[in-house]
Amino acid sequence: MKVAIPAEVTEGETRVAAVPDTVVKLKNAGFDVAVQKGAGSSAHFSDDSYREAGAEIVDSSAELYRGAGLVFKVQPATSDEVDQMDPGTVVVGYVHAYKNDELLKKYAVRGLTVLALELLPRVSRAQSMDVLSSQASLSGYKAVILAASKLDRIIPMQMTAAGTLPPGRVLILGAGVAGLQAIATARRLGAIIEAYDVRPAVKEEVESLGAKFLDIPLESAEGQGGYAKEQGEEFLRRQRELLTDRIAASDILITTAAIPGRRAPLLVTTEMVEGMRPGAVIVDLAADTGGNCEVTVAGEEIDYRGVTVIGIRDIATTLGLHASQTYSRNLLNLVLTFTKDGAFALDFGDELVKATCVVKGSEVLYSPQGVQQVAPPKIDSSDAPKENS
Ligand SMILES: NC(=O)c1ccc[n+]([C@@H]2O[C@H](COP(=O)([O-])OP(=O)(O)OC[C@H]3O[C@@H](n4cnc5c(N)ncnc54)[C@H](O)[C@@H]3O)[C@@H](O)[C@H]2O)c1
Repeated sequence: MKVAIPAEVTEGETRVAAVPDTVVKLKNAGFDVAVQKGAGSSAHFSDDSYREAGAEIVDSSAELYRGAGLVFKVQPATSDEVDQMDPGTVVVGYVHAYKNDELLKKYAVRGLTVLALELLPRVSRAQSMDVLSSQASLSGYKAVILAASKLDRIIPMQMTAAGTLPPGRVLILGAGVAGLQAIATARRLGAIIEAYDVRPAVKEEVESLGAKFLDIPLESAEGQGGYAKEQGEEFLRRQRELLTDRIAASDILITTAAIPGRRAPLLVTTEMVEGMRPGAVIVDLAADTGGNCEVTVAGEEIDYRGVTVIGIRDIATTLGLHASQTYSRNLLNLVLTFTKDGAFALDFGDELVKATCVVKGSEVLYSPQGVQQVAPPKIDSSDAPKENS
């Protein structure tokens, strides 16, 4: 079977869905691999490195998709790309199904089978395929590095003949995968870190990484599958009230709070930003889904009364090399799970395929309730990703 690796067409996307090392592994598993010319260039993988890995380099996307059985994508396949794919092709990658109704219909009309990796259940078996985790982990790291580079002070404590500089204070709101990696990174820089999440289950992990968990008197908002459930306005109002002084005391505020398939909760109001010292920095990792901070402008860095507010979108794309390496390893692991004796065949009874298959042949299977009418299984907390995992 031919696997196609296209050059991503979405503006600003630096990642490629398969790196040369993945090509080698696909070849070893019995696949033929075609890579579009320049596909890896933004992530700094040359056409020659793909050739050496055993891929065929093709000039156009039309040639790439012709005869492909499997397509590795990062961003959702666009309408133009879909028109070039053969009916029956299996496409794996992000689909952002909750906001791409029209695209889903287009995939179905074309007769594609599409796996949306953002819908992969957070179960142990799927950990090695979990693109949300691999990319969020990089995002958490980069958010702290970005904030530190914009800050008007250093983060570690410094005792010199010129006086003592106290350590910087970092507050992380949302201690999922990105938040935990942000804590680990801020810790390495020598910060004093506080963190809060509506799921009290993460307290232990937060503390084991060296941060203080803010025990604010709010009930748990743990939902299904290890995710937070949507909180009402009254809950969020009380949360904002209880966090105001902690936010005012921080030099860096990283917000990562998210509810799958919903607008991000509003945790930081304009007034709360006004309470921060000029020179402080906010990185809002939820900018793409509405923002955790009222002042955030998605895709922009702004100065709000001396506070730098960074609403960077898809921050993992700023780490093209490692983001591509981990993303492509996730895709490879998924595909190899359904490859036996060199033949790739999806098992539509398998929980991973059931959860992610948003289009099968001419049928749209996705429902906005989430994972194809299948409730996400409850995760075992021992499966939660650890630092450096
Ligand atoms: N078992 C596995 O294979 C596996 C793999 C990856 C992640 N997980 C777990 O899945 C869970 C979700 O991880 P994620 O990073 O994708 O989550 P996410 O991106 O959906 O949300 C980020 C964090 O925001 C928090 N949040 C939501 N509303 C909030 C609010 N009002 N205030 C503060 N925090 C708020 C959530 O609880 C979550 O921790 C985590 O527990 C993670 O450890 C399990």
